[in-house]
Amino acid sequence: MKKTRRVPLSIPLLLWCLLTIVISHAGQAAPPVEPASAGGKAPKTAPASVSAVEYSQKGADTCIKCHDVDSEYPVFDIFKTKHAMKADSRTPFAGLQCEACHGPGVKGMASMEEAQKAGSHVGKVRPGEKRPPILNFGVKSDEPVETQNRMCLQCHEDDNHIAWWGSAHEKGEVACANCHTIHTAHDPVLDKVTQPEVCYKCHLKERAEFFKPSNHPVRFGQMDCSDCHASHGTGTSTLLIRPTLNETCYTCHADKRGPFLWEHPPASEDCTLCHTPHGSIHPALLTKRPPLLCQQCHSQIGHPSVAFTTQGLPNANPSGFLLAGSCMNCHSQVHGSNHPSGVKLMR
Ligand code: HEC
Ligand code: HEC
Ligand code: HEC
Ligand code: HEC
Ligand code: HEC
Ligand code: HEC
Ligand code: HEC
Ligand code: HEC
Ligand code: HEC
Ligand code: HEC
Repeated sequence: MKKTRRVPLSIPLLLWCLLTIVISHAGQAAPPVEPASAGGKAPKTAPASVSAVEYSQKGADTCIKCHDVDSEYPVFDIFKTKHAMKADSRTPFAGLQCEACHGPGVKGMASMEEAQKAGSHVGKVRPGEKRPPILNFGVKSDEPVETQNRMCLQCHEDDNHIAWWGSAHEKGEVACANCHTIHTAHDPVLDKVTQPEVCYKCHLKERAEFFKPSNHPVRFGQMDCSDCHASHGTGTSTLLIRPTLNETCYTCHADKRGPFLWEHPPASEDCTLCHTPHGSIHPALLTKRPPLLCQQCHSQIGHPSVAFTTQGLPNANPSGFLLAGSCMNCHSQVHGSNHPSGVKLMR
């Protein structure tokens, strides 16, 4: 419904006066859980795109009149989180409270006239009329991801989040709230045991990989994705926690780092020449089974490559060098050797 009625000049003026008073009192919002401690503190960190006049007068109290304990969505669990630590002046609840994230009760209005026309999410709604929306997050939000994330980044654009810009998740338009759950005492993505399920919502292929017979023990809660990946971005395209793939592996498998007296070049170059990082149908996370694994690079000529062969090594008998440990029956030090006579990686 469009109203074309002219607004007399005095009304905006009057509103302006009223709202100026509102701002100067907004900080005195009665805090919903631990009264008094936030008293007198002026609201802070209003995003530049909206003018502060649109924030509701009583902070969270305005919202929880309707979003109360009985409401379907568990709004109240946020009071058990770091965001609700009013003693910490950086937190939402020390400032604009709910609206620090959800924006003003009137959504994204550039001017007061617009706001007036649109009505307010926190206000009364006439029967049959739709309540004006307020910024929501994650899957239920109809706002662009960038708008949502900006609300979080006004406080979180610190050292830990510098790499966010240009990272796979930022470019892939993943919202902070796609991974983080805010209205809960324990954010699942910050917990080793529950984190993988959050990632699997989008990374189904990886889920399948971790269910393969040989795997990194993510499925058993001993590791999580964060052991190797930095979700907020890093220098590497695959979001690894260290500047190179091998450095990432060495954080736990330090024994493979070397330097070795006799290096095996592929091992010091890139572990994934032979291993998959998540899971494999072959033992020891191998990409292929030996001898095929080795013969991608090493010739079969002049050396036993097939079980039950007499060809190649002198005195080789058909007992099958390549059974069981295959090439590693003899070349056991496949990651490099420190033995003086380990040149053929056999000891
Ligand atoms: C730190 C940011 C933040 C603060 C502060 C915050 N919220 Fe939220 N809110 C979110 C996010 C993110 C979601 C999306 C779902 C989720 O992550 O839990 C959400 C979801 C909601 C929803 C659910 C909407 C739906 O889809 O059903 C309601 C209602 C809500 N918040 C109300 C409030 C109220 C009331 C307060 C103050 C008591 C508040 N929020 C404070 C970030 C915040
Ligand atoms: C007068 C009651 C009332 C007040 C006050 C109120 N809400 Fe709502 N809110 C609702 C209702 C009802 C819905 C469900 C929307 C619908 O079904 O149209 C809702 C939905 C929401 C949603 C989901 C997104 C959307 O727009 O549908 C969020 C987020 C939310 N409210 C946050 C807040 C915050 C933050 C405040 C305080 C600034 C607040 N609400 C104040 C009644 C209220
Ligand atoms: C008004 C500032 C502010 C806003 C807005 C804000 N946060 Fe926070 N957030 C904080 C502060 C302060 C902490 C506590 C940091 C600490 O303890 O070091 C925090 C903590 C967190 C944590 C860590 C929680 C934990 O238990 O360790 C996560 C995750 C988080 N915020 C995500 C978000 C997301 C997602 C949004 C947007 C929906 C958001 N924040 C919006 C200020 C804010
Ligand atoms: C792909 C999932 C994902 C996305 C998207 C994501 N996070 Fe996180 N976040 C995590 C994980 C996992 C952790 C735990 C620590 C880690 O692995 O780096 C975390 C930790 C945090 C923390 C607490 C520790 C710290 O680094 O200070 C804050 C705050 C935080 N995230 C805020 C945000 C904000 C703000 C955004 C959006 C710009 C965001 N996150 C987007 C997964 C995500
Ligand atoms: C909402 C969906 C979503 C969630 C949840 C999510 N991701 Fe992603 N992830 C993406 C998108 C989109 C990309 C961009 C690249 C692409 O299209 O695969 C991406 C890229 C990545 C990449 C880089 C892949 C590449 O090809 O460069 C890694 C690693 C990754 N995510 C890990 C994680 C981890 C770890 C988590 C959980 C903490 C997680 N993701 C949660 C959607 C998601
Ligand atoms: C042991 C370390 C490790 C763990 C744990 C791990 N990853 Fe990875 N992941 C890697 C490495 C290394 C790569 C890069 C592989 C490459 O470049 O060939 C990778 C690549 C990826 C990619 C990109 C795949 C592609 O095809 O481009 C995604 C997505 C991903 N990981 C998601 C996850 C998720 C989700 C989890 C947790 C459930 C997880 N990873 C746990 C090491 C790990
Ligand atoms: C956060 C620590 C951590 C990181 C980082 C890590 N791993 Fe592991 N890795 C483990 C654990 C734990 C096991 C399981 C050991 C066990 O079951 O005895 C394991 C096992 C393995 C195995 C043997 C699997 C088997 O079934 O015998 C291989 C191969 C392996 N990792 C390779 C890698 C590679 C390659 C990387 C780098 C992409 C890497 N790991 C990064 C912790 C890690
Ligand atoms: C040339 C192929 C190849 C490369 C490259 C390689 N590995 Fe391996 N790795 C193997 C083979 C083959 C096995 C199985 C050994 C066996 O069964 O005796 C193995 C086993 C492992 C194991 C489990 C047994 C053990 O020795 O602890 C770990 C852990 C491991 N590799 C880590 C790594 C890491 C980390 C890298 C990168 C620095 C790497 N590998 C590079 C071939 C390779
Ligand atoms: C990605 C390629 C690649 C794979 C896969 C590979 N190697 Fe190698 N390997 C090399 C290279 C390169 C050298 C160094 C050759 C040189 O110095 O002339 C080497 C050297 C060796 C040597 C010492 C050779 C010498 O002349 O001193 C042995 C033994 C060896 N590899 C065994 C194996 C075994 C066993 C496997 C399987 C588990 C394997 N390699 C898999 C590339 C590979
Ligand atoms: C029965 C033990 C045994 C098995 C099994 C074995 N090798 Fe060897 N390998 C040797 C010996 C001994 C040498 C050293 C030969 C020499 O110095 O002339 C050697 C040398 C090599 C060399 C160095 C190049 C050369 O000819 O001197 C490579 C590469 C190699 N082996 C790869 C493999 C691969 C790949 C497999 C699996 C298909 C394999 N080996 C299986 C015993 C074995």
